[in-house]
Amino acid sequence: MKKIILLPLLVLGFAHGAETAVATENKTLEVITPENIQTMQNLEKGMNNIQKGLMYNNATMVQQGVDTIKKNTKDIDSFDIKNKSNSNFKAKRYAETEAKAISELADNMSEAFNKHNKNRTLDTFRRLQDRCITCHTLIRKW
Ligand code: HEC
Repeated sequence: MKKIILLPLLVLGFAHGAETAVATENKTLEVITPENIQTMQNLEKGMNNIQKGLMYNNATMVQQGVDTIKKNTKDIDSFDIKNKSNSNFKAKRYAETEAKAISELADNMSEAFNKHNKNRTLDTFRRLQDRCITCHTLIRKW
C-alpha cells in the first residue's frame, strides 16, 4: 500500500524539482515530497538514538536523538497533508501543533532523563511515539 502511493509521488517529485510540492488532481493521494520523507526518516533515527541512549545509559546519544527530533520537527510544521476521509481536516494547523508538541516533549524527555526520573522519561518517550503514530493513523491507518 505504502509503496503504491509513494512511488509515483517520488517520481513526480524528482521530475518537477525537489522544492515543488507534488500537487495532484487525484484527491485520494497525500501531498508528500522527497524532503517530507527525509524529514520522517530523520525523526525515526532520532527516536532510535533516544532509545539506544536509554539502554546504553549514554546521555550524549539521548541528547543527539532529542536534537535530531527538534531540528526535524521544524519541517513537519510545513506539512499540508490531505486526509482522505475528512475534507475539513485542518492539516496545516494540525502539523504545526504537532511539531510544537513533539519538540516540547523531546525537551521534557531529555530533562527527565538527566534527572534520572525513569517513569517520567519512559512516559514522555511513549507520548512522543503516540504523536508520531497518531498522525500516521490519520493518513495511512498506522
Ligand atoms: C503531522 C503528521 C506527522 C507526524 C506528527 C509524524 N509523521 Fe511520520 N509521516 C508523515 C507522513 C505524511 C509520512 C509519509 C506518508 C506515509 O509514509 O504514508 C510519514 C512517514 C513516516 C515514515 C516512513 C518514511 C518512509 O521512508 O517511508 C517514518 C519512519 C516516520 N514517518 C516517522 C515518524 C516519527 C518517528 C515521528 C515522530 C517523532 C513522525 N513520523 C511524526 C506524517 C507525520
